[in-house]
Amino acid sequence: MENGMKNILSPSILSADFSVLGEQIKEVQAAGAEYLHIDVMDGMFVPTISYGMPVIRSLRRSTDIFFDVHLMIVEPERFIHRFAESGADLINFHLEAASDVEGIIEMIRREGKKVGITIKPDTPIREVVPFLSKIDMVLVMTVEPGFGGQKLIPECLDKVRELRRIIADRGLNVDIEVDGGITTDNVHLALEAGANVIVAGSAVFKEDIAGNVRRFMEKFAESR
Ligand code: DX5
Ligand code: ZN
Repeated sequence: MENGMKNILSPSILSADFSVLGEQIKEVQAAGAEYLHIDVMDGMFVPTISYGMPVIRSLRRSTDIFFDVHLMIVEPERFIHRFAESGADLINFHLEAASDVEGIIEMIRREGKKVGITIKPDTPIREVVPFLSKIDMVLVMTVEPGFGGQKLIPECLDKVRELRRIIADRGLNVDIEVDGGITTDNVHLALEAGANVIVAGSAVFKEDIAGNVRRFMEKFAESR
């Protein structure tokens, strides 16, 4: 579906080589990526632990790329302020982890950051619909959160399609981001369904990083 919105690639650094992370970020940005997807995992909401504020703060000093922070943590309200001051530009929190969704939206707004709500594959979109007029993005997980390198669950793209229709019907301007199992071979399906922010981890940070990003850019151009 043509949604008239700009398509943006958000490479997930979960699959990057952390010993040369700064250089790899420069490489993806030079090749056309506009966002950087930063997965924060707490070992509670998801079964593993990734990285947190110190990494974001350190990266913030070396790049101006837009930081798309994906919080996979319980009780996200505890950490909104600290992720904001660490350098996040957009904060995605999981609906399933939030007891006071409106309160968290307001906390992020007060920090002057963009707001995203994330839903897991089994969470129906009707649970996020009541908040659409108050947020900038819905992140529709296309795998179970927790690990890179999984296979896309195709049914999740039906949720993207339905959500894009609701957003369009209401005349809202809300980005739809997809995350998990996206490759240059299937990204057209996500774009057709109405996603406009595309996360890719293993498909970007393997072998020829700049070439991988450029191939995503070509797919974006073809889908216009
Ligand atoms: C998974 C993370 C993803 C992950 C995607 O929980 O939210 O952002 O890095 O990795 P790929 O693109 O390899 O599926
Ligand atoms: Zn993610």
